[in-house]
Amino acid sequence: MMLKDKVCVVAGAGSPRGIGYATAQLFAEHGAKVVMLDIAMDAGIVDGLKAALPAGAARDADVRGIRCDITSLQDCRRAVEGIVTQHGSIDCLVNSAGVVRGTPMLSIEEDEYERILEVNLKGTFNLCQSVLPVMVARGSGSIVNLSSSAAQRGGGLVGGAHYAASKGGVIGLTRTIAREFGPKGVRANIVCPAMIETAMLDGLPDERMKDILEAIPLQRAGSPREAAGACLFLASDLGGFVTGATLDVNGGSHIH
Ligand SMILES: NC(=O)c1ccc[n+]([C@@H]2O[C@H](COP(=O)([O-])OP(=O)(O)OC[C@H]3O[C@@H](n4cnc5c(N)ncnc54)[C@H](O)[C@@H]3O)[C@@H](O)[C@H]2O)c1
Repeated sequence: MMLKDKVCVVAGAGSPRGIGYATAQLFAEHGAKVVMLDIAMDAGIVDGLKAALPAGAARDADVRGIRCDITSLQDCRRAVEGIVTQHGSIDCLVNSAGVVRGTPMLSIEEDEYERILEVNLKGTFNLCQSVLPVMVARGSGSIVNLSSSAAQRGGGLVGGAHYAASKGGVIGLTRTIAREFGPKGVRANIVCPAMIETAMLDGLPDERMKDILEAIPLQRAGSPREAAGACLFLASDLGGFVTGATLDVNGGSHIH
């Protein structure tokens, strides 16, 4: 029980095959009070997660869902206010909401560029800005933002230049939060996944997938739960002296 009674908000938790959902599930298994945010949230998603919990965790599980479009600052603030009213505070925020497109640089249209940046970077900013005053008021908190190996290696797998740029922005944003809010007891860290088996990989042709997997030292894709494990470490007290760090979850595909 690494998060017993901790109030943990997981954004982008609405896709049952996704990293956010797996993180919400793992956190609930570790005793957290979990609030799942997603633009596509509904009661069935929360019920499904609770039903999948092991018997011991399910009995005491406190899992809720809030529909929230993270590109709207108003939505983010309203969600955070509701959570604080309900639970009194927030211990941890995981930002796993994201969208990807693999469009080549010269074919990226303005509206696609704006959407990718709006969700991945502005959305992450909106939630962090909404949650930070709550964490500062209590003098502690942990933020985990999902970036991508695309930001480190320059795309090349699933995401295009706009995706890589948005995820590079998430790294800069998170490091700045770590520096600015460390003195106030708040930690902020980055998880950089690559090739995790979620809907984000659905469009990859089989041949391309085979080539990519062969080039990964661990010779396989990762599971959402393996990415969730990195979030758990950073969210919990095990990562208590870790801030401003980037944790790669990529099977060794980008060793640097
Ligand atoms: N899967 C991978 O291999 C991989 C690799 C690198 C980085 N990532 C990053 O990890 C995170 C999770 O990815 P995933 O593979 O689980 O993706 P996913 O598509 O399974 O889940 C993303 C979730 O974000 C939600 N979302 C999208 N726009 C939103 C908005 N405006 N407001 C609120 N929620 C919104 C979606 O509804 C979905 O539930 C993303 O930030 C992604 O960029 C994933």
